[in-house]
Amino acid sequence: MKNFRLINLFFIIILTLAVSFQTLKAQNAKEKSLYQRLGGYDAIAAVVDDFLGRMMNDEQLGRFFNGLGTDRKMRARQLTVDFVCKAAGGHCVYTGRDMLVTHKGMGITEDDWNISVKLLKQTLKKFNVPAKESAEVLNLISSLKPSIVEK
Ligand code: HEM
Repeated sequence: MKNFRLINLFFIIILTLAVSFQTLKAQNAKEKSLYQRLGGYDAIAAVVDDFLGRMMNDEQLGRFFNGLGTDRKMRARQLTVDFVCKAAGGHCVYTGRDMLVTHKGMGITEDDWNISVKLLKQTLKKFNVPAKESAEVLNLISSLKPSIVEK
């Protein structure tokens, strides 16, 4: 009888542990931020570098960056990495200006915007970012459009 109780207790403990483990696993899978799913800081920095490189080398968008010196470009690059990192749920601190103030007066048109989205898609493809995460990055960037594009 005593043995039977002990075996029962043993099974209850194993079952409880198994259920807790599964719940923990499910919670972890659910709570992974976009930042984590993209591969963290270095992966985001590499994506931003590639995207900015494409914008600066683009025939139409290059005009926005032509007059900027290296320090200005590096500053904008670092702030963009921090911005995306934070927006994706990472632990970065963004110390730049808001998107409206930053881009006000640049005269970025709808057409410029569409080119930048096309270039971002090329970057995401190059880095093999999965469809779900690509869509989330594009949504995140699209939400900034009203602050960046001027009529
Ligand atoms: C057609 C699209 C875009 C163009 C042509 C553009 C152009 C520029 C330029 C020329 C600067 C440098 C300004 C300066 O140093 O005075 C800049 C700064 C910046 N951009 Fe954009 N941008 C575009 C879209 C975006 C997007 C989608 C983001 C967000 C991921 C972004 C984030 C930033 C940030 C964080 C800065 C630096 C802010 C600061 O100086 O405080 N830009 N942008």
